[in-house]
Amino acid sequence: MVDIPLGLPKDVDKYFYNREKELITLNSIVNTLNQNISNQILVTGLRGVGKSFLLKKLMTTIPKNILVSYIDISNIYGAGKSNLTEEDILYGLLSEMNNSLQSNEKIYKKTYKKIHIQIKNLLSKLKTNDYTFNDNETIFSIPIPQITENYKKLSDFVFNFPQEVVNTSKGKINGFIIIIDEFQLIGELKNVDAFFWLIRSFTQKQDNVTYIFTGSTSTTSEMVEKLNGSSGAFGQRMIQFNIEPFSKETSKNYLKEKIPEINFTDDGFERFYSCTRGYPANINSFCNVMSSNIIYGDKEVIKEFYNKLDQIAVKWISIWSSLNKKEKEIITTLIDNESIKWKDLAKYVSFSQATLTTNVKKLKNKGLISNFNKLYKIEDFMLSAWLKHRKKEDGFYPL
Ligand SMILES: Nc1ncnc2c1ncn2[C@@H]1O[C@H](COP(=O)(O)OP(=O)(O)OP(=O)(O)O)[C@@H](O)[C@H]1O
Ligand SMILES: [Mg+2]
Repeated sequence: MVDIPLGLPKDVDKYFYNREKELITLNSIVNTLNQNISNQILVTGLRGVGKSFLLKKLMTTIPKNILVSYIDISNIYGAGKSNLTEEDILYGLLSEMNNSLQSNEKIYKKTYKKIHIQIKNLLSKLKTNDYTFNDNETIFSIPIPQITENYKKLSDFVFNFPQEVVNTSKGKINGFIIIIDEFQLIGELKNVDAFFWLIRSFTQKQDNVTYIFTGSTSTTSEMVEKLNGSSGAFGQRMIQFNIEPFSKETSKNYLKEKIPEINFTDDGFERFYSCTRGYPANINSFCNVMSSNIIYGDKEVIKEFYNKLDQIAVKWISIWSSLNKKEKEIITTLIDNESIKWKDLAKYVSFSQATLTTNVKKLKNKGLISNFNKLYKIEDFMLSAWLKHRKKEDGFYPL
């Protein structure tokens, strides 16, 4: 057995491989903050391709005079909440921005210590929905929101905050980068468009704040359209790029360098690549169940893949078990029918079109299905490989 982390390793540099070009590109885009030029960035790519790890790596390369905050919407949405609200996101953003200030406290102690405490205070009040502030209290020069329904004021405060940090830092901080991971889940808000337009209205006026949106989605998804499509909030002004899986060559070199204990024949490697398709998440989870005592040929790879698919696909199994019955029915219908039109999908499932609409939207926001040219299909091949395999073995799809 090999020991390679399946989640995001703490020791980024030990495990991170390749992506030099992407890092150079991202670095040069965010470094314009030093010249008071802010770019907005959208990083797309399918599940397991390495978006989060790339951004974690980027964070380690940012100079000290630029602050970085990272929030993962799935942590907010997944924390036992059945619906996501704008306030949840604002709370997450403010608390992460405040953490970034604190981690620089040594250098910026004088300027920010008081503010840090004020924000902590504000956060704990927000959490209990207690908005009883003194009337004229401000942080920087931004008034603290007074009442719970006053979402507009809270959003003003949160979205003005990073630029204010720069403005008041007396040249010590030149920029603030805010990474929003699993952004496609923002699609769960009742009014997504308004939220994206709101962010846009602030970024337009701010020269030192860069947002990096990233999430498991294809380049053409509805959420990408809403954010950066021609009629979306950012109207194609975001710098958008897609993270591709490792090429065959890169996968081979990655294995050689990071997981040299697994040995393949040429055929075996070809098969390994077609099983994993160059997605680092798949490569790592497959390698974790492989043995260093075998030289893997074509047949051995196939056998190992199917014997251990439940372990290899463990991440997808937990995604599957988090879906509701109707979402599962949509997924299995799409697996049985490959790619189909809306009207056929509506015909095959056992519930109303309205229920179908709600659940298809949820699945899209989770990056699990997509529609392109009016055809709906599964976005995630590992999920579909695992489900097909279980159906073949057990005669039915897992519950
Ligand atoms: N450049 C890389 N070098 C080495 N390992 C990588 C690289 N990129 C990703 N991985 C590994 O692949 C796995 C998936 O990476 P990551 O979580 O970044 O993917 P993701 O695109 O963010 O996926 P998701 O959509 O599920 O969030 C992790 O275990 C990570 O360690
Ligand atoms: Mg990720």
